[in-house]
Amino acid sequence: MTPGSVAIITGVSGGIGRAILKAFHPRFERIFTASRRDIAEFWDGKYPSNTSHVPGDLTIESNVQRLFDRAIEKMGHVDLVVNCVGGSLVSGTIKEFNMEDVDRVLAVNLRSAFMITKHALKHMEDGVKQDIQDSGNIVHFVSSSAKKISHGKAPYGIAKAALAHLIHYAAFEAAESNVNVNGISPTYVFTARHERSIRKKMNERNTGRGEVVERITSSQLLRKELQPEDLLEVTWLLATTRVITGQIYNCTLGEINSY
Ligand SMILES: NC(=O)c1ccc[n+]([C@@H]2O[C@H](COP(=O)([O-])OP(=O)(O)OC[C@H]3O[C@@H](n4cnc5c(N)ncnc54)[C@H](OP(=O)(O)O)[C@@H]3O)[C@@H](O)[C@H]2O)c1
Repeated sequence: MTPGSVAIITGVSGGIGRAILKAFHPRFERIFTASRRDIAEFWDGKYPSNTSHVPGDLTIESNVQRLFDRAIEKMGHVDLVVNCVGGSLVSGTIKEFNMEDVDRVLAVNLRSAFMITKHALKHMEDGVKQDIQDSGNIVHFVSSSAKKISHGKAPYGIAKAALAHLIHYAAFEAAESNVNVNGISPTYVFTARHERSIRKKMNERNTGRGEVVERITSSQLLRKELQPEDLLEVTWLLATTRVITGQIYNCTLGEINSY
């Protein structure tokens, strides 16, 4: 990153966003972060001096706008957006889902990404036009569920599949302004939240962790516990690329059973 670079990272209270913020914050002049929850406990109450948290529900456009306004007011430009907002939230078959839950999953995984892309493109393209910056990068977290069947997760898989196509459209529209839009599509990542659900499954099935993990990794060629930190290298590549756009990088450990 060049000196003076500014990033927005969303979903920083979650497992992947938190790892990205921790690794990236020394590489930027200023980072603006967002999630509904505060992230004070993550920094032991001491935020890095170059980080500002803008709490808010990012399924609401005024909150997305406020996040970008804060960054533009303070720094005048945004070079990078990494969007880690998302989650499958609810499980069930299509017949079982109530439509409020479907709307909620679509909002968290797709509506928020659409609005984040919209505001990012607006400010990055303005920045390029006004010669404040020469390019921009947007990276979204998709999911392997966009291409495979994750049992009981239809709304999530559908939202992530649509997010993948949003990336293609955004890359097409932003190319002439030198703004690159890409995605990372991981398989199951062993975050703290997922560790809690593994423990729950161990109790429900009265079994050991090994058996639960074995089921999770059974369709992967590399069969290992993917950690948030394993995604840092590819995130940095797509955060800084000048030659890749409209691409979704599958970080699936060679998972099979995909469309
Ligand atoms: N972990 C995996 O196995 C995995 C696999 C494939 C793809 N992914 C994708 O990778 C991204 C990060 O996943 P993760 O595992 O780090 O998830 P996570 O631990 O559940 O974190 C999700 C993040 O999204 C934020 N968020 C959720 N709803 C929000 C809302 N309405 N407004 C603002 N922020 C909201 C949460 O913050 P608040 O709750 O504080 O708002 C949190 O920071 C997600 O898009 C996820 O779908 C994860």
